[in-house]
Amino acid sequence: MAKIQPRIMVVGSTMIDMITYSKKIPNAGETVIGDTFALGFGGKGANQAVMARRLGATVFMVNTLGDDVFGDTTVKNFESQGIDTSLIKRVSGASGVAPIWVEPSGANRIICVPGANNAMTPQQAQSAVEGLADIKVVIGQLEIPQEVTIAAFSAAQKRGATTILNPAPFAPLDPRLIEVSDWIIPNETEFSGMHPRGLHPDSDSIIKELSDQLGCRFAVTLGENGAAYSDRSGTISRVSAPRVKAIDTTGAGDAFVGAFAYGLAAGLSDQEAAELGCICASDSVTRLGTQSSYPTSDQARTLLAQVTKS
Ligand code: RIB
Repeated sequence: MAKIQPRIMVVGSTMIDMITYSKKIPNAGETVIGDTFALGFGGKGANQAVMARRLGATVFMVNTLGDDVFGDTTVKNFESQGIDTSLIKRVSGASGVAPIWVEPSGANRIICVPGANNAMTPQQAQSAVEGLADIKVVIGQLEIPQEVTIAAFSAAQKRGATTILNPAPFAPLDPRLIEVSDWIIPNETEFSGMHPRGLHPDSDSIIKELSDQLGCRFAVTLGENGAAYSDRSGTISRVSAPRVKAIDTTGAGDAFVGAFAYGLAAGLSDQEAAELGCICASDSVTRLGTQSSYPTSDQARTLLAQVTKS
């Protein structure tokens, strides 16, 4: 198969992940002894950029980092992966960090402290999008100010790019952001936050209710149960996830979004893009860490071939 290198832009966050693996999660006022600790590169935007890059996309990262060592190493990490960093700005102060706890089941709890991510501006995002030709997909999340994503998506739609919003972590959505999002892709927790009656995505009719209300293309990730998405007629279609033994689910949703974005940008059908998302997300939970759990470029090509059958 000829390698497709679609151009994808991520206007989103970077964090340094500080991951503690522990059998016991402390209650308030309690100290517990953990098992192991790892520092890694994270942030939902950065993770999605890395996943899309591993599959073969040309990826441009738009972000703001602090003037600390975390900012320096984050830029080096992107460069070592072949992700374009020319649209990253530096400001004085701390870069984003994310303390994370992972239980033996692989479930995680995350607190993001955005730091310099909050210094991103609508102007930075708009001129980044306007300055690049032939961007197929622009991805955003909620770890930077919503005004910034609105500016990026508005400019992207004017240039004919598809916009994908991963509304994570959950926050009430500015109606203007919904309007400029072609796709919205929450996980189950974010789905409940967005649903008018706080319902979980337990049935097609509940998923369709939120999808219809948002009025754009919609997918929801369902952990080990795969994903569901609304097709162009509004019917809910399901995609199953490969059965794997999960050891760390951190970043699995980002693997889905990055792979899904790659799929759309590369011209796969919605169904194929969702299958690729589920395959990459399931693969990632079998390894520890966030970006460190993602497939190598060679492994990603093998995963892609499962969908394109070539
Ligand atoms: O989705 C996982 C990511 O959430 C982590 O990398 C952490 O940085 C937070 O952004």
